[in-house]
Order: sequence, then structure tokens, then C-alpha cells
Amino acid sequence: MEPRRQHESRGRSSKPADARRAALPSRAMGALWGWVAGGRRGRRRGRGLLRSAPALAAAGMLCTALAAYACWGQLPPLPWVSTAPPRPVGVLLWSEPFGGRSTAPRQPPDCWLRFNISGCRLLTDRAAYGEAHAVLFHHRDLVTGPPDWPPPWGAQVRNAKELRVLDQEEEAAVAEALATPGSRPPGQRWVWMNFESPSHSPGLRNLAADLFNWTLSYRTDSDIFVPYGYLYPRSHPGDQPLGLVPPLGRKRGLVAWVVSHWDERQARVRYYRQLSQHIAVDVFGRGGPGQPVPDSGLLHTVARYKFYLAFENSQHMDYITEKLWRNALLTGAVPVVLGPDRTNYERFVPRGAFIHVDDFPSAASLASYLLFLDRNPAVYRRYFSWRRSYAVHVTSFWDEPWCRACQAVQRAGDRPKSISHLASWFER
Ligand SMILES: *[C@@H]1O[C@H](CO)[C@@H](O)[C@H](O)[C@H]1NC(C)=O
Ligand SMILES: *[C@@H]1O[C@H](CO)[C@@H](O)[C@H](O)[C@H]1NC(C)=O
Repeated sequence: MEPRRQHESRGRSSKPADARRAALPSRAMGALWGWVAGGRRGRRRGRGLLRSAPALAAAGMLCTALAAYACWGQLPPLPWVSTAPPRPVGVLLWSEPFGGRSTAPRQPPDCWLRFNISGCRLLTDRAAYGEAHAVLFHHRDLVTGPPDWPPPWGAQVRNAKELRVLDQEEEAAVAEALATPGSRPPGQRWVWMNFESPSHSPGLRNLAADLFNWTLSYRTDSDIFVPYGYLYPRSHPGDQPLGLVPPLGRKRGLVAWVVSHWDERQARVRYYRQLSQHIAVDVFGRGGPGQPVPDSGLLHTVARYKFYLAFENSQHMDYITEKLWRNALLTGAVPVVLGPDRTNYERFVPRGAFIHVDDFPSAASLASYLLFLDRNPAVYRRYFSWRRSYAVHVTSFWDEPWCRACQAVQRAGDRPKSISHLASWFER
């Protein structure tokens, strides 16, 4: 539910990626704790080189000529390779996420200034539909309100006004027709974009098969992977968070939790009920027992606590939101997480950077561990050792997914692809 409300990243939000997908964390995390994308990337490179014997021979000769170390990237990239500007790519945001059709389109970001991605034309005017290399469709807006698809591409319908208005009766036929070849501008990719978990993504099964070419989500196995945040190697003294350990003297509180949608049926509320019988938890936010967030703001408030309950609203693979990245890791409160299992978290953050509720047989024993850490600052401080090597990036919505989509098009070949089983993939 969060992207809508998400603040812009306070950290340096423009750390560029060198991974092949928009997958920034592969570089950041691969070496240290064996994150999958590093391996995947390696295999892909292998496959590329070995595709055919002549290619292999050519690659071999090139390596010999230039000396092997140049081939493995230890020298700066070859000038005639690196100076070629990426091809200009247009990406149309079909509608403002969560905005409804009446919302004025946002001002597109400058992908170069923000994320070091050049050659992007970010479009909001539907009149440019025919020119777009990719169109971003935000899931929630596709399944709420009246249907809102581009009309079949072809003969007459090309002016902006007609593109906006579509009779509802035509709609069912149109939805079917759109998945068939020839009904869309040639070479254009439709991208299904979603940052909600499957529990909060209604209507998945109403979307026609093969309608979308790519997926864009927090799931690592998306075509365009954009996590809610990630760690990257610390290279600059100003990288966030500042300092190796937050100022502990300012931490007057023990456990904080910020929750905006209070629902007794959610696992996080049930766990909180048990935990708060054994340790004081200060709850902020609308609904439930929360008190209003003080005027100093959420991040300043949470920074004064030793622990933050980074409890996700539902438990799904890779569904780790800004509650971890921004509210806990960036502010310097040790995250106590409830979400996917520990193994899944360890694909994103070092194991010693967080406390998982599953590490304890009961909320009572978690509470005694937190009280133990409160009395033993030396042990508590170990939860910040990741800061020696890493900084936190918090993804900014929707600028960052938009620019990453452009980058993905630039890096992709022409091979067509479409998503046949969106619901069963995403709900897995
Ligand atoms: C920006 O991207 C270019 C390649 O497009 C790369 O050479 C350069 O190092 C990147 N800049 C930063 C600050 O990482
Ligand atoms: C995108 O999907 C459509 C519908 O399945 C398909 O006809 C088209 O070839 C795909 N295009 C690309 C570039 O993948």
C-alpha cells in the first residue's frame, strides 16, 4: 500500500546500476552473502559468449589480442564500446498510479540526473502511444474503475481524444483483441507494474493471458526488478546512513512501530498483541492504538528508538518494503522483521543486520532478547556492523521504476516475450 505515500529517498537516490536487469542489488549484495543475481548474471554472460563456435573463436582471439585482463573488465571499457550513447527510448506511463483517470499526469523525472540513465523520453501524453517503446500499466488502476485500455492499434484511432475515451461495450472485445498480434504498435512492450503484495492485488485473474510482455515489481524474478530499497557498497563519506553506529545516547525509547492500516486479522497485529504483553511498544499512526506521529516527523521519531517493528502487511516472497529500508535501516533502529522467512531476507541484507520474529519460539522470548540487548550495548552495536561496508538506498516512487523500465528497454534485444500466467506466477 505504501508507494503512494512514500517520501523521496533521503539518501543518495541516484546510485546507478551496472547489473543487466535494473537489478541493482546484484552488485551490492552478490559477493558478500551469495545473492542469487550475481550467479545468474555470471551464467548469462557465459551463455552469451558460448552461443556459437565462431563467436567463441572471435571472443578468444579478441581476448588474446587485448590480454585477458582487459576482457574481464579490469581496465576501463574500450572507448569505442563505452561512448556509444544508449538508444533513445520512449516510455509511456499509461495513468498516474493510484490516481484514477482524472488525475493530472506527474512531471517526469530526469533519468540522467536522478539515476544516471541517459536516452530516456518519459511520456505521459497518451497521444504519444504509438511512439512509445514501452507502456507502463499500474496494476491497481487496471482493475479498479471502468476498463481503460488503449484501443486496438491500426486504422483510424490515432488522435489523442479518441485514445482517452472508450465505450464500455467495446471493452470486452477489445481486451481480448489486444493480446493478439498486430493490435499494438509494432515492437512495443507492455509492462505490468505492481508493488503491492499478492494479498493486496485484486483482479489478477481477470487479465487476459499474453497481454503483457514484461513484469515490473519487487519480486527478484520480475523482468524489471525494482526492490523497495537495497544496500550498496559504501564509497562516499556522505553515503546514508551517516556514521558507523547511530548516536545511541539519543535513543530514549525501546520499541517503535508505525502502522497506518490497522487490521486485527493481520499476522502483524496478532504478533504485536502478544509482544506488547512482555515489552513496551510505542505505536504511531492512524487507526488502532496508535498515537499521531510527532511533528518532528516519522524518521526522527523512529531514530530515537532502539528497535523498529518492520512488520509487513502480508507475508510473501521478496515482499520487503520501505518499512525495512527507510523506517529501520536508514533511521538507525534495529529492524525486528515479520514478513517472508529469514532466508528470503538474507538475500537482501546481511544476516546480522536484523532480528526475525521466527528466530524465537514465542513473542515472550523475543521480548526477553530485546531487553537483553537493551542492557548490553556492546552486543546491540553489532547489529550495525553492516554499515562499515554498505549504504542504504530507498527507492523513490514512481520515478525510479519509470527510469528503470527505460533502461531495461535499452538493454533488451528484440526477442518477443509475453506473460502467459501472470496470476499463477505472482501468487506463487
Ligand atoms: C554513469 O553511467 C556511466 C555509463 O553510462 C558510467 O560510466 C558512470 O560511471 C556512471 N556514473 C556513476 C556516478 O556511477
Ligand atoms: C508483446 O506481446 C504481444 C502480445 O502477446 C506480442 O504480440 C508481441 O510480439 C510482444 N512484443 C514483444 C516485443 O515482446
